[in-house]
Amino acid sequence: MGTASATLMKGAANIGHHMDKYTLERDGQIDFYTTFLPRINPELKMEDILADSNDGVLNGNLIEFKLRVADLNAVLFQCVKYLSALRIKGKPVPSNIAIIDLNASTAWLYHSADYLADIEKPYSGGASKNNSGFIGGDAKAVLHYDLDIDAERLISVLKERNFTRINIDENCIVGWATSFYKAVPTARKEDFVGDDTGKHKTVGEIRSPVHFADYILPYTGKSNLRFKYLMDRLNDTLQKKNLGAFYTHPLYARKSLELLRAAIARVPRGNDYIILDRCAGTGNLEAELTDEELRHCIVSTVEYYEYKVLQERLGAKVRAIIPPTEKADTFNAGLVNGADALSREYIDNPLIRQFIDDPKCTVILFENPPYAETTSVEHQKRGAGSKSSAWKKSFVVQEMKKEVKGTASNDLGNAFIWSGFKYYLRQPTDSFVVYSPVKYWKAQHLIDKILLQGYAFNRRHFHTNIDACIMVALWSNEDAKQEEFNLKGYDIDHADNIVCLEEPLPIKRIHSTYSEVFYDKRSFGSDERGGLVVGYDGLAPRESVKRSIKPIFNDNIIGYMVIDGSNFDNPDLMSVLIRCGLYKGHGFYLRKDNYLEKLPMFCASRYITYNREWTERARIMKSADGAARFNAAVEKGTLSQFLRKCLLFTCVEMQNHIRTFKGSDGRFYRNELCLDGTNGETLALQDLKALKRNAREDKIAALWKTVLGWAEKAKGYNPAFTYGVYQISKELDTSHRDEADPEKTVWDNVELHSALTNLKTLVKEYYNAEIVPVLFKYEFLK
Ligand SMILES: C[S@@+](CC[C@H](N)C(=O)[O-])C[C@H]1O[C@@H](n2cnc3c(N)ncnc32)[C@H](O)[C@@H]1O
Repeated sequence: MGTASATLMKGAANIGHHMDKYTLERDGQIDFYTTFLPRINPELKMEDILADSNDGVLNGNLIEFKLRVADLNAVLFQCVKYLSALRIKGKPVPSNIAIIDLNASTAWLYHSADYLADIEKPYSGGASKNNSGFIGGDAKAVLHYDLDIDAERLISVLKERNFTRINIDENCIVGWATSFYKAVPTARKEDFVGDDTGKHKTVGEIRSPVHFADYILPYTGKSNLRFKYLMDRLNDTLQKKNLGAFYTHPLYARKSLELLRAAIARVPRGNDYIILDRCAGTGNLEAELTDEELRHCIVSTVEYYEYKVLQERLGAKVRAIIPPTEKADTFNAGLVNGADALSREYIDNPLIRQFIDDPKCTVILFENPPYAETTSVEHQKRGAGSKSSAWKKSFVVQEMKKEVKGTASNDLGNAFIWSGFKYYLRQPTDSFVVYSPVKYWKAQHLIDKILLQGYAFNRRHFHTNIDACIMVALWSNEDAKQEEFNLKGYDIDHADNIVCLEEPLPIKRIHSTYSEVFYDKRSFGSDERGGLVVGYDGLAPRESVKRSIKPIFNDNIIGYMVIDGSNFDNPDLMSVLIRCGLYKGHGFYLRKDNYLEKLPMFCASRYITYNREWTERARIMKSADGAARFNAAVEKGTLSQFLRKCLLFTCVEMQNHIRTFKGSDGRFYRNELCLDGTNGETLALQDLKALKRNAREDKIAALWKTVLGWAEKAKGYNPAFTYGVYQISKELDTSHRDEADPEKTVWDNVELHSALTNLKTLVKEYYNAEIVPVLFKYEFLK
């Protein structure tokens, strides 16, 4: 109901429920805010108040609107849940709760402090569900704000800026740390979690709040032991970059003890042994070791507050901690002097050396090394260049670079693995139990040792939200060229149970890349200098973009392909199929005469998009290892149907960014890898004639017709163009923001959008059923 009619009916509001002023909560809310905001703070807009999916936080007030309040207790409980969510996110908890019945113009006011115990519980599921049964108290005040006297009182309440101070615990400390480092960008971890135990006594924000004095109560725990599973997430931004984080889930730590115990079983009779963990963090891996096993442990970690927890947790039980006790100079800018495992000083540390030099002592390394993916997109986005990390200058990395070539030496985890074998393991009965994604063995060939046993774990449970495969492997210190092994996979379910996957997960080594083997490196006498370059979206890049290739033009060129790298880390950036050369190069031109046999590379590069299970990412990779068999089969013609299936897939897959356009060079560039025959058959349509279509393929063809039919009706359709799905999706399947609800997208051509969405479903099914198995057979995927 619009504002005008709402005003008209204001007088009628008191008559009864069936004459409700508002039928939509949003109308009432807008009315309320446009009435009151100018009196509270004329600068404020509704958007400033609505956040965190509640009805609004205005100064020190949480406001919850209802058309009609049926059960005050239920609405109050909903508010409690919103406040609980604010605390967990590290946001101030308003001291007032205002429940507003829009149709009755009534506000019930409560104090959040009265419900603190409930606010400090975590809740799961939507705040507006399952709220009956909560027993609240009476409201502190009830205001009928259609009366002037109450309206004025409500205004003064809404102007209050008081907050209820909350207690810091393991549920909310990560949120408050995030808010703290945002509010105080120069702050270090000590400024947040520091305590006055030990030699370095900086008392941090949680114990003596300054910035958040109005929001949090001082944490009274003497040490940080309570946060032992979170210490990595409390690091300041700089530390996050240099230390990597990713603690081990207790269930995974327990599971990997089986591998550790298998390693202990290999200790020759009569030998002593040590278990060395150079990057123990707060000691999570060692948490469930027996006292006897702990007596063999040597642990250390470079981060100061982890070190203190490690001391408190394991200090009295282990054989050694590096350094054994805290000294005046132990704290060094947030780090522990002498505990940097990548330093020369650490490798020479006599405390450890005495065991390494003792032939009657077996050495077992048991570690979850830090991963710092400085080359990852997320990392680059944070503006931290790949060169800036301190660990890259460390002794171990410098030494490793002398022996290990390529990107493998740019990896913090690899520095731990490599140095483990290099400086600590010496006898065939020595072992290394190590957590890491498999690429160091599979693709980088960092080590050639015997794998005795191993598990695959879901990376999601290591303080990330990425589904990917992490291997924990028991390596024997014996050289061997292994080509393949199996891992048992373990996930963790919602009820916190470890679940074993039925099928073992094979890990196979890869030896060659697409670019070495499959890229078309020919040049033609007819190639003309001076073609165009385009960007990832298939269009001309901005003038300012640096061009690193000299593009060519030839009538036989139908596209440009870059399928980079073996892994699936940034799959969309590593899978480029466009009409002209990519401005930064590193790919090859697709030519009419042999483009079909290049398409399996493009198909393989889409694997992760359609197979998102954690077992696939970081385990399955791209390789050219089956090239000889593949080429022979192509030669014999046995793959002619398969190649056409790849072609069909390529034509209807969104990552194919080939567009039709009029180039700035005056040439008309037509999309030949699509199914649009409006302006004559494309090359794809010609080659697809030889496909013996099955039911799935008929369905795709039919749905494509629907898509094209709606596309032709869309505004902006150019009848001279030949369209593929990507160009349709980008240029014709347009949308705008809903005026009433800016969060919502409104599609201008609903039929077109629906048909494209359907097509995606079909394409996925088709891909996994008919293309993926052959990609594995010929080791495009391995
Ligand atoms: C992946 S965490 C594992 C921690 C613990 N073992 C666990 O599994 O929960 C890696 C640890 O290595 C520490 N670390 C990072 N760089 C280090 C270095 N150069 N020397 C020693 N420890 C380091 C980090 O502070 C972090 O605690």
